Amino acid sequence: MSGLFITFEGTEGAGKSTLIKEIERWLREKEIDFVSVREPGGTVLAEKMRAILKTPSPEEKLCDKSELLLMYAARAQLVETLIKPALAQGKCVICDRHDLSTVAYQGGGRGLPMDEIDAVRNVALGKFRPDLTLLLDIDPKLGMQRARSRGVLDRFELEQLSFFERVRKAYLDAAKRLPYIKVIDASKNVDEVRLAAISALEDLL
Ligand SMILES: Nc1ncnc2c1ncn2[C@@H]1O[C@H](COP(=O)(O)OP(=O)(O)OP(=O)(O)O)[C@@H](O)[C@H]1O
Ligand SMILES: [Mg+2]
Repeated sequence: MSGLFITFEGTEGAGKSTLIKEIERWLREKEIDFVSVREPGGTVLAEKMRAILKTPSPEEKLCDKSELLLMYAARAQLVETLIKPALAQGKCVICDRHDLSTVAYQGGGRGLPMDEIDAVRNVALGKFRPDLTLLLDIDPKLGMQRARSRGVLDRFELEQLSFFERVRKAYLDAAKRLPYIKVIDASKNVDEVRLAAISALEDLL
């Protein structure tokens, strides 16, 4: 019996990490066995790739193609060494960002052609997809206000608002195409967001 793979998506400050803590508590109450990971990262080597992706490097710009390939290198490492084995043991896997982030950030945000992204995804993931993606949709202005309240900004958070508007649009366009994506209005308070997420999870379980 295979476990369920559930991913959480949305622009900076949408409330992914906050919601994941709530969902972890809910899964524990239900006595559902799970592992919780984040992308990029989640294994020792993938976290090293995360550091390159997230840390601003004024001395040398990470080019868009390297960014794309490194994202998928980290993702393949996590999926092959941690996520697939956990699912095979019947565990639920919850993941803070996954493949849809690449569609939104490297596709929508950076403007890399979708057919090139699809080709790299095919190498990295084959047909592996989430059972459910909860997309926390928020006006990027509000999201950035929330994110800024936490302090130091990473390499992505230093982008302009127009970048995040493109990211948001790419997320919402994908949600129209892919049936496993559930859009949640993340401008609502934490309680309302949690209830919407739990309702989607109950439908799946
Ligand atoms: N529904 C909500 N209403 C108001 N504030 C919220 C809500 N959800 C989260 N916050 C607050 O907004 C800030 C950002 O939330 P959080 O870290 O969960 O976002 P995130 O999506 O994980 O961001 P990032 O993409 O940067 O990791 C936190 O200070 C959190 O307490
Ligand atoms: Mg977070």
